[in-house]
Amino acid sequence: MHPMIAPSILSADFARLADEAAAVGPRGDEPGADWLHVDVMDAHFVPNLTLGLPVVQSLGAATGIPLDCHLMIEDPDRWAPGYAEAGARNVTVHVEAARDPVMLAKNLRAAGSLAGLSIKPGTPLEPYVEVLRHYDTLLVMSVEPGFGGQSFIPEVLEKVRAARRLVDTGHLRLLVEIDGGINADTIEQAAEAGVDCFVAGSAVYGADDPGRAVAALRDSVRR
Ligand code: DX5
Ligand code: ZN
Repeated sequence: MHPMIAPSILSADFARLADEAAAVGPRGDEPGADWLHVDVMDAHFVPNLTLGLPVVQSLGAATGIPLDCHLMIEDPDRWAPGYAEAGARNVTVHVEAARDPVMLAKNLRAAGSLAGLSIKPGTPLEPYVEVLRHYDTLLVMSVEPGFGGQSFIPEVLEKVRAARRLVDTGHLRLLVEIDGGINADTIEQAAEAGVDCFVAGSAVYGADDPGRAVAALRDSVRR
């Protein structure tokens, strides 16, 4: 499968979001970013505050890159479908925060997006396998959610391998995404474990040329 790269705008300049999105868009023969990863934090589920629905609506109107909204918020059952209605391609909620993740997945799909479920580094995969039948993407966190620029936690790759097996044997149909500490040094081990979509914040927006960084990450895992 074509490896997907989703730059995280958490490491971009928030005063220039449209330009920062354009910096990872298609350029010549390079397809650019597959998705643009948008970290929504509410200062309750995680100890940090970023942006919300109005910014997602404006950013969606300003870029042709599909938005991948990662909601690190409490009460996603109430708030997440609004991001789907705003036009996000994929809306990911945390299983640790969702009250009724099966109903939430249905509501997200009905509102027009893919449904994503995320698990923190310390959250096991196994109890949620049945719930994941209702989801389109699984976001395995490889750092504690809340901040960009942290170090990759390699132990989470065991969960990626388990998810990959469930997909390859036909038990689940979803895209496996990883988020946190992905860079030139860590992306290959994540790819070997079976990741389909790689989120990268500081490795893309900390580079002199974010567009080139996206292409380089993709080239390093192309199979
Ligand atoms: C962290 C966010 C990540 C973050 C990743 O809570 O979910 O998406 O932007 O940043 P890096 O790639 O710098 O670890
Ligand atoms: Zn994220």
